[in-house]
Amino acid sequence: MSHPIRRIALSTGGGDAPGLNAVIRAATLAGLNQGWDVVGIRDGFNGLMTPDDYPDGGVVPLTRDVVRNISHLGGTILGTTNRGNPTAYPTQQPDGTWVEVDRTQELLDRFAERQIDALITVGGDGSLTIGSHLCKAGLRVIGVPKTIDNDLERTTQTFGFATAVEFATECIDRLISTATSHGRVVVVEVMGRYAGWIALHAGLAGGAHGILIPEIPYRLEHVAAMIRQREERGAKFSIIVVAEGARPVDGAYTLLGKDVGGAERLGGVGEKVAQELSVLTGKEARTVVLGHLLRGGQPVSFDRQLGLRFGAAAVRALEDGLDGVMVSLDPPTVAYVPLAAAIARLKTVPLDCDTMLTARDLGINFGDVPPLVERS
Ligand code: F6P
Repeated sequence: MSHPIRRIALSTGGGDAPGLNAVIRAATLAGLNQGWDVVGIRDGFNGLMTPDDYPDGGVVPLTRDVVRNISHLGGTILGTTNRGNPTAYPTQQPDGTWVEVDRTQELLDRFAERQIDALITVGGDGSLTIGSHLCKAGLRVIGVPKTIDNDLERTTQTFGFATAVEFATECIDRLISTATSHGRVVVVEVMGRYAGWIALHAGLAGGAHGILIPEIPYRLEHVAAMIRQREERGAKFSIIVVAEGARPVDGAYTLLGKDVGGAERLGGVGEKVAQELSVLTGKEARTVVLGHLLRGGQPVSFDRQLGLRFGAAAVRALEDGLDGVMVSLDPPTVAYVPLAAAIARLKTVPLDCDTMLTARDLGINFGDVPPLVERS
């Protein structure tokens, strides 16, 4: 039986997502209302690992004043990082080379020194994997799923996704008017890592004619045939939404490089697609990469609410004595699932889901089959 909670810590890790501040606000207020102290760790776990790097010591009290009026703000007031995994911490050797060192025990000691009884870790698969590891090592941990990519298993949706889709849709709307005026092909590249959720949802809502997602390796001949078919019908422009993780049949992902930890940085496939489509169709093609714009800005109200619900539910989980679980959206309610199950694999787009079927029925081309021909 774990001892009663007096102090909890919040940490935000991995790529930021709109709605993080709503989680921080809700978890803080709910924790304070329990009579607990609430502190925030700066930049994932770095505030605890390297406190001397921070003028405020890396761990800050979260008070009502600190979390007032923050739900509508993008980013995270605590800062975040996708470096500094305590289980494989990048450390420079005396000879200048870098190695990864497991600093789990040191981190656990820091939690104990600061009398932190439990951690709420808000993150994607990387941060939740670290959370699961810390939990197995003895810390009380509750996970909160965050990512614009919506690629986490065991939750219907992550916060940040709705805001990213909203913005991408607005961009497609804008691009349609200029593409129509010039009779061009415009290729819009969106984030999403190895899942096509953002591309599919924004592409469908924005009226794209082709959508390329990682789940369906593409042949551009099919997309080009669709563009030519539209041309014959008098529609001189086409919008193709490409997920950064899309790749050709028998082809590789397009990479910008690798992070310090070796993780692939996806990006650049949109320009390749545009160039090839231009050759195949003889039409002018342009590329727009939405990139980090999808992560920035104010969360839409759905993401604010989801963040608030998740933050409050994380505190309720601790109050109820739960440990090693992730808060999950299971409409109409919020549920708890084992952290280990949530990180077991990525949630990719099921090819038979209703959104996919809808897109197929509308004749949106995914690069896997020739365009539909109307029955006469
Ligand atoms: O996971 C969120 C995400 O925005 C992905 O869609 C993208 O591939 C990645 O993060 C980019 O991360 P970074 O901030 O390292 O460029």
